[in-house]
Amino acid sequence: MIRAEHINVSFKKENQTKLFGTERQQVLHDVSFHVKEGECLGILGESGSGKSTLGRVLCGLLKPDCGNVYLAGEPCYKGRRKRKTVLSVVFQDYTTSANPRFTVRGLIAEGLRAREKREGLSLDREKETDDLLCLVGLDGSYKDRLPHELSGGQLQRVCIARALAVNPSVILFDEAISSLDAHTQVQIMDLLKKVQKEKKLTYIFITHDLTSVTYLCSHVLFLYQGQAAEIRSVDTIGEAVHPYARKLLHAIFDVESMGQEEMSN
Ligand SMILES: Nc1ncnc2c1ncn2[C@@H]1O[C@H](COP(=O)(O)OP(=O)(O)OP(=O)(O)O)[C@@H](O)[C@H]1O
Ligand SMILES: [Mg+2]
Repeated sequence: MIRAEHINVSFKKENQTKLFGTERQQVLHDVSFHVKEGECLGILGESGSGKSTLGRVLCGLLKPDCGNVYLAGEPCYKGRRKRKTVLSVVFQDYTTSANPRFTVRGLIAEGLRAREKREGLSLDREKETDDLLCLVGLDGSYKDRLPHELSGGQLQRVCIARALAVNPSVILFDEAISSLDAHTQVQIMDLLKKVQKEKKLTYIFITHDLTSVTYLCSHVLFLYQGQAAEIRSVDTIGEAVHPYARKLLHAIFDVESMGQEEMSN
């Protein structure tokens, strides 16, 4: 469903002594991977390892220096053809990604309008909004609320409903649940699992939290200093061999086993 091939990204270095300095900082080094339909790939790495940069490349916001991304076989960075396969994004900072002057109805309408335009149809927006809110565990009574009248977890559910409104095949989550409390994180992850099954979605889940990867994802990519250090199925995560992966597993092992117990309770 999604294939990244030899992604390299560099940024111009700031604070260069020369006026027209051309020194560049390489942020992603030859990153390649693929995600099959219905899978969930966790991209795990420490702060500054290039996770969000890779996310921006995957969703078409940042052209890599070289390499390409293919969505259902279609290249993302070649001409400006309209893509048939749609990728939605949910960011960490739901408070700024939701326009504070829009009601929940207005926020979801943004996504529905995009879908109407792309698919050339006219939707019953009220019904679609009700259905989407129901899918994310909210009801129609939230439609007239403004973002500041919702809790963090509720607002993130609305952002997920908005991402679903465009009828995507892939959703990319960039630290989308990291700022929520542990209980709400589990609730949202359960919701994401349910929605993924119902809508046959493919997920890319960017995080620095190993526990949520083991809970939600089918595969994991360890991103270390801009390189895909290791990619493996979550079932065999314990057998990871890259030193960074091992370090992470060791550091989290105790908390991890506690977290799993809590989740199963
Ligand atoms: N637009 C940009 N211009 C210059 N440098 C950038 C730009 N975007 C990112 N970087 C640099 O690229 C590196 C990777 O940043 P990125 O945001 O991808 O990390 P991250 O893994 O998402 O970190 P975090 O977990 O803190 O979100 C950092 O050193 C950052 O300073
Ligand atoms: Mg980031």
